[in-house]
Formats: sequence, structure tokens, C-alpha cells
Amino acid sequence: MDELADKGYVIIDHFLSAEELQLIAHYLNQLDQEDQLQKAGIGSIDYHVDKEIRGDFIYWLSPLKDPIMSPYFDKVDQLIELLNRYCFLSISSSEFHFALYPKGSFYQKHLDQFKERNNRLISMVFYMNENWKPEDEGELMIYQTEPPIKIPPINNRLVMFKSDSVEHEVLLTHANRKSITGWLLHQPNGLGYLT
Ligand code: OGA
Ligand code: NI
Repeated sequence: MDELADKGYVIIDHFLSAEELQLIAHYLNQLDQEDQLQKAGIGSIDYHVDKEIRGDFIYWLSPLKDPIMSPYFDKVDQLIELLNRYCFLSISSSEFHFALYPKGSFYQKHLDQFKERNNRLISMVFYMNENWKPEDEGELMIYQTEPPIKIPPINNRLVMFKSDSVEHEVLLTHANRKSITGWLLHQPNGLGYLT
């Protein structure tokens, strides 16, 4: 909590147990094999697909539709409780998707808050990449320091950062790169488009 408040980002390794991680990674592979992931777009109102900006494929998750994800959502709920209590935030909901960056893809430098919809408070990215090697690159680059820091997307690593102010980028990846990306929101998700 202190690190997130002071530096704007925090890295938490070994976020899930080995069993939980295996279950969830297996589920992602299954969704991918069933062709359930779709090309990701940009922005909430001017939604369009532009592979010059981002090259990932995503699948939106929900506790009801994807009950197998409950270990992950339970952990997120614990985090939300801590953040609300110790960082005086008023997080009331969240949204998560699986993301698969195929070999050769990236996501250009950006902020996670939409201009039209600024309810994303905290960004969370959880990586599921067994045997990630330095030459695979595909690091998350965070522009909070000079020079910016490069965070390798290693297995069972969670990175959290402030959505409104932390510029970041996914560097060109030379191996398929898997994650769960999500946002902690400060109002009911459904109202986002009206504000
Ligand atoms: C995003 C994003 C970072 C990552 O989806 O908005 O910046 O490391 N993802 O996957
Ligand atoms: Ni982002």
C-alpha cells in the first residue's frame, strides 16, 4: 500500500498459490483454444481496433460467467478492502480481462483512463508466463522514473499502478505473452458510460 501510494506502482510476486495459478492458466488456454479471445480495441466511446497501437487479444471475465476464476476474484476483493481501508479509496467495482499478446505484438505508451470515462483508479496486471526469458522481452515499461523501469512479465507476478497518472507501454514481445489485466473502479461499472 505504501509503495503504491509513494511510487505510483508496486510489484507483488507469487500472488497466487501454485494450484490456483495452474487452474487459471489452464482456463485461459482452454478459452484460447475455443477461439473465445477477440482483438482488443481502444477507448470506450470511439471504440476501434488498431493493431498499430495495441496487438493483444482479450476475453472479458466475470465472476458469474467464469466461476473457475473465483480464487482470483477473492484475492482482488481482499486487495480492494485493504486499499479502501488504508489508502482511503472508494473502490466499488472492478473489471478484468484475459489478454494474450501474440509473438510480435505490443501496446504503445498510454494511460489507462479514458477521456470519456475516468473511473479507473488502479490498474492491475497479473502475468502467467512460465519460463519467461530475458530475450523474450515484452516487458511492461513504466514511465515513473528517469530512465523508465522495465518489468518482465514473469509467471505469478502482479503489478499495480495508478490508472490516472502512470504512463506505460508493453514492449514488443518475442514470445506469446499472457496476463489478466484489470481495473479497480470508483463507481458501478454500468454508470461509466454516462459520466
Ligand atoms: C493495458 C496494459 C500492460 C501489460 O492493457 O492497458 O497496459 O503489461 N497492459 O499487459
Ligand atoms: Ni494500459
